[in-house]
Amino acid sequence: RLFLGLLLVFGLAGCGSNEIVTNVGELDFEQPLKIPELLEPEILEDGTKHFTLTMGPGTTEFFPGTNTDTWGINGSYLGPTVRVSRGDQVSFDVVNNLGEVSTLHWHGMLLPPEMDGGPHQMIEAGETWKPHWTIDQPAATTWFHPHLHGNTAQHVYRGLAGMFIIDDEDSEKLPSEYGVDDIPLIVQDKLFTSDGQLEWDDDGSYGLLGDEILVNGTHDPYLEVTANQVRFRLLNGSNARAYNFGFTDGRSFQVVGNDAGLLNEPVTLDRIMLSPGERAEIVVQFEPGDETILRSYSGTAGIESGEFDLLKIIAADELTESEPISGELSSVPPIEVPEDAKIRQFNLTMENDINGKKMDMKRIDEVVAAGTTEIWEIHNFGPEHNFHIHNAAFRVLEVAGGEPKEYERGRKDTVFIPHGASVKIVVEFADYTDMEFPLMYHCHLLKHEDGGMMGQFLLVEPGTEEEAPLELDIEV
Ligand code: C2O
Ligand code: CU
Repeated sequence: RLFLGLLLVFGLAGCGSNEIVTNVGELDFEQPLKIPELLEPEILEDGTKHFTLTMGPGTTEFFPGTNTDTWGINGSYLGPTVRVSRGDQVSFDVVNNLGEVSTLHWHGMLLPPEMDGGPHQMIEAGETWKPHWTIDQPAATTWFHPHLHGNTAQHVYRGLAGMFIIDDEDSEKLPSEYGVDDIPLIVQDKLFTSDGQLEWDDDGSYGLLGDEILVNGTHDPYLEVTANQVRFRLLNGSNARAYNFGFTDGRSFQVVGNDAGLLNEPVTLDRIMLSPGERAEIVVQFEPGDETILRSYSGTAGIESGEFDLLKIIAADELTESEPISGELSSVPPIEVPEDAKIRQFNLTMENDINGKKMDMKRIDEVVAAGTTEIWEIHNFGPEHNFHIHNAAFRVLEVAGGEPKEYERGRKDTVFIPHGASVKIVVEFADYTDMEFPLMYHCHLLKHEDGGMMGQFLLVEPGTEEEAPLELDIEV
């Protein structure tokens, strides 16, 4: 396969580096899917759940007999899964053993801006960062990854990412037994050299697009399921590639959650597209002995071109039965548009900037009143991008003048912005204030993010917007 991959890479290299590497990936499904370990917290005296996450280098055997140099968190590739409930107090020791500066950002989390782990919370080599906050948001599948200004792409690509699950009373009604009927699927594309090392080539306009797929860091994976209903938490943890998920036997599935929370009711579909950073929770039904392949189907966007087998799923001969999922999932009402909502415009330009500006660590681009709800209109004057906002959840109102896709109607924090299209969202900002530490909005195609397609906003006490600094007094 490496040889074939190599042929493909060379074949396409001849066509110029802007060509998108595609591969109708046919796999043998020889390796059991790895399930990231569920990280046990230490319970502190005041009840806080304390976790230690150590980022460091290692080697990983993606291909039997080959040791690939990778980075990981508490292991050699990816990180453990953190799982907590709404209302929990959490604290972390984030230890940086990488030998170089990094950060660890909690993507999708509502929290005090100083705890966000974005570009302003750098962790120097050898240091430990100690964020802490109270989980105060509806159940969701969030994740964590480095967010070092200008160098996020490589840190994520080498393997630094993990899933962060939040439960509440609504989510516990869904299949919830981790690794049994509640399974994370972190999907990432890679390029490998002929000797099985990670290759870096982000010359193309979107950044790195690999021709081999890893699911939870497993190449060529299969999974045996033992339950008649399985909830999969799909996370596109790739640098640039989008996946158009479906099953080879044409089976449908129920979408039960978007990035930032459960849907109010399930939506039955047979395809769901996720761009980098987006998540979806889906529930799939199985009959004893079923076999199917989760595949990514080529879509209309450049970043979703190519067909890839992702995971073979085999249902055991006997399956444990669980209650069919109910019509009512989340009890949190959809985000409504306030009558006097402030409207902001963001132009994504051909130069891969936002409103004509590249990210500047010192500059504050927007000042937002904490706890308020605004309308953001994002206009894309170039090829595909997506848009992620820290410390907020939003609902998609309009895509290219039409209704959003059925799978984009819940609470989200990242949205795909098609080529040349405008996307309108209603954004509910977290109720935390900070005049010193800004939050980010950006394209989650990591090459674009690193290249400056990012802006900064402060969340401030309503009524104090005028007092907010437009320039930060920091060394950069
Ligand atoms: Cu997943 Cu600002 O990041
Ligand atoms: Cu982009």
